[in-house]
Amino acid sequence: MSHCVAAGEMASVSDARQPQQAQKDAADQNFDYMFKLLIIGDSSVGKTSFLFRYADDSFTPAFVSTVGIDFKVKTVFRNNKRIKLQIWDTAGQERYRTITTAYYRGAMGFLLMYDITNEDSFSAVQDWATQIKTYSWDNAQVVLVGNKSDLEEERVVPTEGSRQLANELGFHFFEASAKDNVNVRQAFERLVDVIYETMSESADGDQSASGRAAALQDAPPDSRGGCAC
Ligand code: GTP
Ligand code: MG
Repeated sequence: MSHCVAAGEMASVSDARQPQQAQKDAADQNFDYMFKLLIIGDSSVGKTSFLFRYADDSFTPAFVSTVGIDFKVKTVFRNNKRIKLQIWDTAGQERYRTITTAYYRGAMGFLLMYDITNEDSFSAVQDWATQIKTYSWDNAQVVLVGNKSDLEEERVVPTEGSRQLANELGFHFFEASAKDNVNVRQAFERLVDVIYETMSESADGDQSASGRAAALQDAPPDSRGGCAC
């Protein structure tokens, strides 16, 4: 997925197979809330694959490293409320960090991903958590995802250590496989659930998650300015 994001684009920019449907979905203003989610983590951990599995139920073994940032839209329902998810897939490569961190603002939830067969990607989790703290708002919810659980023989990151780190950081935790479609929907749904719960519990006006959700019904300020690449 090497497309970059142009101003105010609301379509899944990668959906070339059904352009009319993608356009229709993206332009659809008939929703109760919009949640902006970001997928972050080191390069090659499987962020793009995870999003493709969730949004399109597809997987490709080829590695095409993301350039800049991209997004897809998916609609889910909670308590008869229609929630439009705007899911941003960030490039893991260091050279895109300035671009990608600009998108943290206004994000209500993060999928922070590492690869269970890649120790460095797990060691980097703490740094990614710091980036979230630095660039996003205080109540942003985070789900830590150890991807590639299908590669058990190549595992170098034990489950328990990851769970413990997630607990320490206050994150939810899943091991998952974009390839085998294990825990992909569950990870996204947990994120949606905790955002929805936080939003429902919040009694404040503009500072609340619901205020933010309403504000995000417009294109986020970060995405209005033109191509991110
Ligand atoms: P950047 O865009 O560079 O940040 O990388 P990324 O995190 O988006 O990684 P991507 O989704 O492109 O996946 C990298 C490689 O890992 C690809 O070859 C994928 O096919 C492979 N991959 C992704 N998820 C899985 C998985 O669950 N299991 C296995 N075995 N391979 C996976
Ligand atoms: Mg990618």
